[in-house]
Amino acid sequence: MAENSAVKGPIFLVGFMGSGKTTLGRAVAEELQVPFVDLDECIEEKERRSIRRIFDEGGEARFREIEAEILDSLTDRGKKGFFVIALGGGTPCRPGVMEKLSERGLTVYLEAPVDRIVERLLLEGDKRPLVAGKDEEEVKATVIAMMGKRMPYYSKASVTFDSSRLENEEQVKASVKAFMRLLESAYD
Ligand code: S3P
Repeated sequence: MAENSAVKGPIFLVGFMGSGKTTLGRAVAEELQVPFVDLDECIEEKERRSIRRIFDEGGEARFREIEAEILDSLTDRGKKGFFVIALGGGTPCRPGVMEKLSERGLTVYLEAPVDRIVERLLLEGDKRPLVAGKDEEEVKATVIAMMGKRMPYYSKASVTFDSSRLENEEQVKASVKAFMRLLESAYD
């Protein structure tokens, strides 16, 4: 794996669905020239079925078990690896997970306003079972309710990054630059 002076270990991106973990993570990994890992994609590859199907067939409880197993194998790899990993919105929302991730690498909470998150979730269609089939008002109510429960976990991240502007290539580039500055100060 590439070694790069700007990165000192794995970078774990946490945050709500639609906070930009995948979009920003991919672009940051490219800038740092380290691998990018998307936990949802790993789950789908390993299970050979979509997240939606996992939810449909085994419920959220089964999804969480699979998610936890795959996260463990990835964080073990993170002991020696340099990579950027986008977690699922609910991945770190169990006792002890944020603490473990912060021991292994840098945890970054991607923060975006509720309205921006809702906008992104509506644009991305029905791939997320927790908001699938809901209209704008319902999605907003779900986001607000879930956010309240999840903030105590997200707020344990080592640093917070404003991910509200990732709507086009130019904004992604500017956000990557800002992320690099954040990395410099985080590793200071
Ligand atoms: C979930 C978020 C999704 C995916 C699953 C559950 C959640 O990932 O893991 O649909 O509980 O918030 P993204 O945050 O990448 O959308």
